[in-house]
Amino acid sequence: MTGMKRRSILVTGGAGFIGTHTVLQLLKQGFKVSIIDNLDNSVEEAVHRLRQLAGPQLSQNLDFHLGDIRNVEDLEKLFSSTNFDAVIHFAGLKAVGESVAYPMRYFDNNLIGSINLYKTMAKYNCKKLVFSSSSTVYGQPDKIPCLEDYELKAMMNPYGRTKLFLEEIARDIQKADPEWRMILLRYFNPVGAHESGILGEDPKGIPNNLMPYITQVAVGRLPELNVYGHDYPTHDGSAVRDYIHVMDLADGHVVSLERVLENKDIGCVAYNLGTGRGTSVLDMVAAFERASGKKIPIKLCPRRPGDATAVYASTEKAEKELGWKANYGIEEMCRDQWKWASQNPWGYQSKP
Ligand code: NAD
Ligand code: UFG
Repeated sequence: MTGMKRRSILVTGGAGFIGTHTVLQLLKQGFKVSIIDNLDNSVEEAVHRLRQLAGPQLSQNLDFHLGDIRNVEDLEKLFSSTNFDAVIHFAGLKAVGESVAYPMRYFDNNLIGSINLYKTMAKYNCKKLVFSSSSTVYGQPDKIPCLEDYELKAMMNPYGRTKLFLEEIARDIQKADPEWRMILLRYFNPVGAHESGILGEDPKGIPNNLMPYITQVAVGRLPELNVYGHDYPTHDGSAVRDYIHVMDLADGHVVSLERVLENKDIGCVAYNLGTGRGTSVLDMVAAFERASGKKIPIKLCPRRPGDATAVYASTEKAEKELGWKANYGIEEMCRDQWKWASQNPWGYQSKP
């Protein structure tokens, strides 16, 4: 970046799982990063680890602000003191089951928080955004792989609805004001950890998602894995998903950011971030056993309500337009997940 102004990026939710891994890659690319996070689903130790990995020099380009995007004053404070070139917006709640039990929490956090953010961005003339959408917007797809131009369907749960609404909100904002440049990234199933084992996913409470659950069984925090569904029309009866290494995802954000910064004609556009390959629950268990050398006891259980049989991405659009494709396969995802878990069996906390 010699000779160029160092670009300043605001990362909402940057202390979380995908945020920390992405911020590390941004720092390595020479960006200046401000994180705003209310630590609702993360801990400040994750930011310390991030600094440790970035090293003292790059860490000077990182600042952390404890704040809530639902609070306009917190946003005002940031935008009035720094001219951000763009925003990567991760902050939000993401637990499907919790969203069914407490829908207002999800509408309040994900919708109101994002609307506050976009209003403040517009006020300060910062109209470049990379947003965390989700493959959840495809619902139970009629056809796989999922293509970005599929018609999006009514969602099964309030979390999914917030992602769908937020995609529509972004499209409407950009249509009304073409100065906005927006990339909506539809992540498939993010797993894995930084290869050092220093950063990783640290869910609070009993995990809902497959990979963190398997991991906690492997380290002895949980006795066995419930496999939800063994009668799906798949090669082994268990459900199929497109798991993607979090470092591939992080790099997908860097290229998307560069695109919103450099290309004035992108409008508002969605990309899948997946590998394009499907892996079943039982395949994932076997891969994790190979990577960890641990036996994962399983219990075959009925299907989990609302789950799709098989979901995986078409990766063509991201490859063609962003020049991005995933590098890591299931073996590396399990290897890095295990490195993180074996070094940090209680996540960022010491054993309670
Ligand atoms: P995460 O919970 O680890 O990170 C989200 C971060 O946002 C947390 O650090 C949390 O404390 C913070 N946050 C939440 N509400 C906030 C608020 N009002 N103000 C400030 N900070 C707030 O989750 P993640 O896995 O890193 O996911 C990041 C984004 O990606 C989310 O929007 C999520 O919905 C989306 N996403 C995640 C997955 C997945 O499986 N991990 C899949 C698809 C999409
Ligand atoms: N599963 C089990 N046992 C478990 C947990 C999960 O068998 O203990 C199965 C599920 O039934 C599913 C598969 O593993 O068949 C993957 O489940 P996850 O909960 O890990 O992921 P999902 O595909 O259900 O959904 C997740 C997030 C969504 C997001 C989606 C795509 O919960 O919000 O990834 O990013 F939209």
